[in-house]
Amino acid sequence: MSHVPLVHKRYSIRIVPPGPYNGAEGLVFPRGEIAVKSQYNTLISKGLPKISKRHKQVKNRHPNASQLDRKIDKDYLLTMNFNIKKQVQKGYSRAWVVDKYAVVGLWPSEDELFQKFWPYGTRVLDLGCGAGRTTLPIAQQDYWVTGADISFPMVKRARDQAERWRLPITWATLDATDLPFANETFGAVLFSYNGIELVPDGKEGKQCVLNEVWRVLKPGGHFIFTTHAIEAFNQYAFLRFSRLISFLISKTLRRPTLAKEIGEVVNDPNRNLEVYYMQIISPRTYRKMLTNTGFEVVYYNSRQRIDQQKPPNWLADMDPDFKFYVAQKPVAPPIAEI
Ligand SMILES: C[S@@+](CC[C@H](N)C(=O)[O-])C[C@H]1O[C@@H](n2cnc3c(N)ncnc32)[C@H](O)[C@@H]1O
Repeated sequence: MSHVPLVHKRYSIRIVPPGPYNGAEGLVFPRGEIAVKSQYNTLISKGLPKISKRHKQVKNRHPNASQLDRKIDKDYLLTMNFNIKKQVQKGYSRAWVVDKYAVVGLWPSEDELFQKFWPYGTRVLDLGCGAGRTTLPIAQQDYWVTGADISFPMVKRARDQAERWRLPITWATLDATDLPFANETFGAVLFSYNGIELVPDGKEGKQCVLNEVWRVLKPGGHFIFTTHAIEAFNQYAFLRFSRLISFLISKTLRRPTLAKEIGEVVNDPNRNLEVYYMQIISPRTYRKMLTNTGFEVVYYNSRQRIDQQKPPNWLADMDPDFKFYVAQKPVAPPIAEI
């Protein structure tokens, strides 16, 4: 297996020589190199969303464009009958979005958890693999990896990158709610970077993913995934709160809404966006759903706390950063009580 550092040449990231992680936020590559976050942000900002023609016209025409935009989105969307899952797929198939996700490298927190919970040689399923950010470094670390995503352009870009680095990865275009694999195929499953929140149909959609992951995992295997949190204190807290209030008011007054559940956001399919659907709920709900599915939540913490080497505690739910869940399928199924 090749052991060249996994850096996309187009972006020419400066590689900090291997050494202990120095606490700076950055991407960790398999051999310990770090690309600092400021560079990473500059790199990803290259793929800027373009405003659609219709919205440009509306903005140019109307003195109070932002309010009108909101009104048009809401009224017009309610009259439309569109397939949200197809929209998600479309959002992640656009060239500028694929470019944005083409930077390869694990977060320090991911690197730490994979090493802790996944023994080398494990067969790993990387769900929502995007352009291979996590898939390639995992394959380089002597795991057997299948990278899978609902967007074919994402899988294609990931596969091209893997070929360049001569990494033996299996690829699949699929929907995480309906996996084409036999029971107990994988020793580990990953759904990184809040991918599960993009699965529509509220909690039911997320539950389908948990059921499928449970099915394809071997007993004793670990499922690692990340989400945001509705209770997080960050720059989006006010926006989430106002959305919540408006959702509750609409429900009370029985007004039609695109969001069917708390935390759901549905965006106008005519806009050139990355995210057409997302649902941010509480990590407590995910932990409960995992337990109800039969998983044991063996570890839960925020990315910030993992990076700061802090143990998990109840404050993690409110941290501004991503939440990590490590859920294990028990070795022996619980014996049913007679
Ligand atoms: C935020 S991106 C993260 C990509 C990659 N994991 C990374 O960390 O760079 C989320 C990915 O999940 C994929 N995705 C969304 N819904 C999915 C589904 N139902 N099944 C499989 N993949 C899905 C998207 O196409 C997208 O590539």
